[in-house]
Amino acid sequence: MSAISLQGISKRYPDHVAVEKFDLEVQAGEFMVLVGPSGCGKSTTLRMIAGLEDISEGRLLIGGRDVTHAEPHERDIAMVFQSYALYPHMTVYMNMAFGLLRTSKLSRSEVDQRVREAAQRLQITELLERRPNELSGGQRQRVAIGRALVRKPKVFLFDEPLSNLDAKLRTHMRGELERLHAELGITIVYVTHDQVEAMTLGTRIAVMDRGHLRQVGPPMEVYRRPADRFVASFIGSPEMNFLAVPQGTSEGHTWLSDHFGDAALRPGATLGLRPEELVLSNASGSEAAPLSWLGVVQRVERLGAEAYAQIRVGNSDVLVRTEADAALVAEQSIVLTPELSRLRVFDAQSGTMLTPRV
Ligand SMILES: Nc1ncnc2c1ncn2[C@@H]1O[C@H](COP(=O)(O)OP(=O)(O)OP(=O)(O)O)[C@@H](O)[C@H]1O
Ligand SMILES: [Mg+2]
Repeated sequence: MSAISLQGISKRYPDHVAVEKFDLEVQAGEFMVLVGPSGCGKSTTLRMIAGLEDISEGRLLIGGRDVTHAEPHERDIAMVFQSYALYPHMTVYMNMAFGLLRTSKLSRSEVDQRVREAAQRLQITELLERRPNELSGGQRQRVAIGRALVRKPKVFLFDEPLSNLDAKLRTHMRGELERLHAELGITIVYVTHDQVEAMTLGTRIAVMDRGHLRQVGPPMEVYRRPADRFVASFIGSPEMNFLAVPQGTSEGHTWLSDHFGDAALRPGATLGLRPEELVLSNASGSEAAPLSWLGVVQRVERLGAEAYAQIRVGNSDVLVRTEADAALVAEQSIVLTPELSRLRVFDAQSGTMLTPRV
């Protein structure tokens, strides 16, 4: 049985469809990340799961129970927002205890035990008597998570919980969330527009675009085999390169139609290759590869451990990852050869990825 089952869920505003026929099964213990650009309907979906937003159409089950029209407090969920929404006049301890004291049947000592346990797990025990304005952003975020933990809900919902933190703290908190998830075996639905967060945290990720679910799968599967051009360019940083089929290489054309069918050769079909899936070689050394492009180096960005070469191919720029000290200079002519086993082809009309025949 799924922890959460979204069945054909839509959210329609009078003048706008925010989420359209959304289907998703979240398994118990899963860390599911909803990811997509701003305005694609992530928060709306999460808020419908939480019961903070009415569901226009479809059915929602939590733990096998139909909660489509249930009140938020009947859903056994806890939500952590980007703005931590702590009570400013209460101590950290009371921020964590308040909800339980008010709405649960737990005794004061049971609540006390839960608060102290959560505080210990989140390493904020020494902050319990402070007020929110005496805490750093990262500490406030921990308190907000602690307040969700003490309720021991079936499902945790997170809406961009790390986006107010600086880069270093964000990386650290990613680790903490991962640890919490592993230690407690909890079910999480986590919203972010940050594809790095999605890649690193998700057991599976669900990629959304303008109210639609485009693809759901384990991060590396989505990275390697994106369903369409939208997913291909949204997931991965730096972005995937899209290249036209090279002209005038009959060997290459034969190879493409053998592996991907004739659709691969239709005008407008594009080949997708990530920066690490292209190999650079000198224009003079003629390698025997069925597919290759000739380009001109524009600039090289040396990041220390690696470098990215920006290369002009036809009318577009292609980014290629290479060794940090690769001997490349601007204006140099260069040959780009794809790793054929990684090559993706996107249909000219629909943008969907063509399935290779081998
Ligand atoms: N009350 C409303 N009335 C009409 N449209 C709304 C309403 N609330 C949200 N929307 C629209 O629904 C769409 C989805 O909004 P939502 O907040 O779910 O996006 P999001 O994916 O969370 O974006 P972000 O990454 O910016 O937080 C947006 O186009 C938004 O303008
Ligand atoms: Mg949002």
